Amino acid sequence: MIGRSDELPMPQKRIAIQSNSGGVGKTTLAVNLAYQLARKKQTVALFGCDPNGSLTLFCGLDDPVPDQTVDYILRPEFAGDYPLFSAWGDRISGIDACLGGLILSETAQRLTMTKRGEYLLADKLEDYPLPHDIIIFDCPGTIEQLHTVTLAASTHILITLKPEDKDIDAVAKLIDWIYRTRQELRLKPAPDILGIVPNGFKDRAMHRDNLGLSNIADIETLPDIMRTMGISMFPKINDSAHIANAAAAGLPLGLFRPGEPANRIYAEIADAVIGG
Ligand SMILES: Nc1ncnc2c1ncn2[C@@H]1O[C@H](COP(=O)(O)OP(=O)(O)OP(=O)(O)O)[C@@H](O)[C@H]1O
Ligand SMILES: [Mg+2]
Repeated sequence: MIGRSDELPMPQKRIAIQSNSGGVGKTTLAVNLAYQLARKKQTVALFGCDPNGSLTLFCGLDDPVPDQTVDYILRPEFAGDYPLFSAWGDRISGIDACLGGLILSETAQRLTMTKRGEYLLADKLEDYPLPHDIIIFDCPGTIEQLHTVTLAASTHILITLKPEDKDIDAVAKLIDWIYRTRQELRLKPAPDILGIVPNGFKDRAMHRDNLGLSNIADIETLPDIMRTMGISMFPKINDSAHIANAAAAGLPLGLFRPGEPANRIYAEIADAVIGG
């Protein structure tokens, strides 16, 4: 008997977490989103697509050798033996990580000279499908070849944003780049921008001191601008020492400090990923 359509497995979602400035919380979002997805019984593969390798640290894993990184997947001889490491496997099941690292700066250069370089990650994932419900790509801090490669492999994009003028401007440029690159690569279907995650909010008084009043006006009006573009904004994640300490301890916030309010926001983003 053929199962009812509501029993069919969900098609794999692939989420590229991107930004156009460094240190805005991409890797923090990647690990916390993976954790909240796993709590919702989703299996997740986290891909560290950044030469800085911070995903390794945030997952509490050891530095990989080059053959154990995303670079290995993007080599011509790769035949489906993904180098995956269980993340927090003693505390929660369903999260595997494929790590990044310095070798990826060479990978990025190599891809510019490889036929179908932009599509290589998408091709590998098509030729050698992973069983996970969701794949998350943790991208570098500026637009470069690895952004293009993950864009071509993704079904959705999440953008992290810090409430500072230069970062708001950088996000506008990133969105423009995404629209153009989706067209240039003729991605069908083109990955959707699932939303923007504002991260690292201090209270208004601190913003006034640090950033000046005009910055507050910008970040406050951004939701309206995004609404007219049809792009969702998730609730703001506050600046919290617990978030930074969890990352330094190699744990998601939900394991490090379950009662922290930001966990609810990461869970809300997880719901959007599952339903998106
Ligand atoms: N809401 C927050 N409150 C406090 N610290 C945070 C918050 N979000 C991120 N951090 C800290 O800020 C630093 C940068 O965050 P993260 O590494 O996630 O950013 P990124 O965008 O991935 O950076 P990069 O572009 O270098 O990869 C980390 O030390 C992280 O622990
Ligand atoms: Mg990062």
